[in-house]
Amino acid sequence: MLKAQLGTNGPSIPRIGYGAMVLEGYYGTSDDITAVDTLSRAMDLGLMIDSADAYGNGHNEVLIAKALEHRGERPFIATKFGLVFEEGLSAREINTGWGFSLRVNASPEYAKTALDASLRRLNLNQVDLWYLHYPDPEIEIEETISAMADAVDAGKVRYLGLSNVTAEQVRRAHSVHPINAVQYEYSLWRREVETELLPTLRDLGIALVAWSPLGSGFLTGTVTKLDESDFRQSNPKLSGDNFEANKKRFEKVTKIASELKLTPAQLALAWLLSQGEDIFPIPGTRKSSRIDENLLSASTTLTQELVDRINQITAPGAFVGETLL
Ligand SMILES: NC(=O)c1ccc[n+]([C@@H]2O[C@H](COP(=O)([O-])OP(=O)(O)OC[C@H]3O[C@@H](n4cnc5c(N)ncnc54)[C@H](OP(=O)(O)O)[C@@H]3O)[C@@H](O)[C@H]2O)c1
Repeated sequence: MLKAQLGTNGPSIPRIGYGAMVLEGYYGTSDDITAVDTLSRAMDLGLMIDSADAYGNGHNEVLIAKALEHRGERPFIATKFGLVFEEGLSAREINTGWGFSLRVNASPEYAKTALDASLRRLNLNQVDLWYLHYPDPEIEIEETISAMADAVDAGKVRYLGLSNVTAEQVRRAHSVHPINAVQYEYSLWRREVETELLPTLRDLGIALVAWSPLGSGFLTGTVTKLDESDFRQSNPKLSGDNFEANKKRFEKVTKIASELKLTPAQLALAWLLSQGEDIFPIPGTRKSSRIDENLLSASTTLTQELVDRINQITAPGAFVGETLL
């Protein structure tokens, strides 16, 4: 298993993790029995499990607790807080540009309640990595991190993380308490992090956990159309003419994958792994066989010549449809 250290003084964990969000039906239906089986496969392999309190409005953490039952060694569990999913709780609205808004609350009081609720649902006394899911425009990030640091002191959390933040926010947060990981969208079709965020993380010794490393499924070459209930319909890269234009662009990547006898998903992940030992992709799937398929990408080393070729095809701007988040 290919492993690396998650941030300075962080634990050594597999470079490829498992993103559990898809088990909540956002990208097609899912049932609890299969979901627990899939989670169990990821846990058997010792992968970092990535969740959030907001996934399935708490249900995702309950599924993880089920998969953890009767397990000797506990895998590395990451969860997040800050996206408010309960009606009636105070929150700030953020426009995602995806046709819906997010409700955010990162106040110290909310952080404390949210963590206790996550631990209850997960049936754990401690979570390994706890992220701020999205910064709150009305709360200074230092205030939020200070509350998160209290949770570390209280033994409820081992490491802290941030998600969907700017380089400046990372610097401010890291000056209050060491941050081990920052989560941001990073894949062949979304490379904005390379400009400012990733260099800052490298400067500070923080790992980048790449969310949607398979472009929400698009980079596997298997998404050819989306039905109406599919949450990805509102992704600017997957809607209308953009979808068709992006498919055309992606054909060049598919061709390279087949030359290498890899699936497009494996090539997309191998490319991410080639970007540095500090990158941890967390692909999501509802099917345990795909966890194994995706893990094989870690056994592939891409030559620099190939990486350069892929970089050229997927240079920032190559895929159309701008994402705000
Ligand atoms: N911090 C944040 O704001 C944030 C935002 C989004 C996501 N995330 C995290 O990142 C994780 C991954 O992102 P994501 O689920 O959005 O997207 P993703 O991992 O890029 O793609 C997931 C999709 O790819 C498909 N897939 C996976 N492996 C495949 C394979 N080998 N062949 C064909 N299809 C395959 C899955 O379909 P099947 O289920 O049918 O296999 C699923 O629909 C999430 O689970 C979540 O933990 C975080």
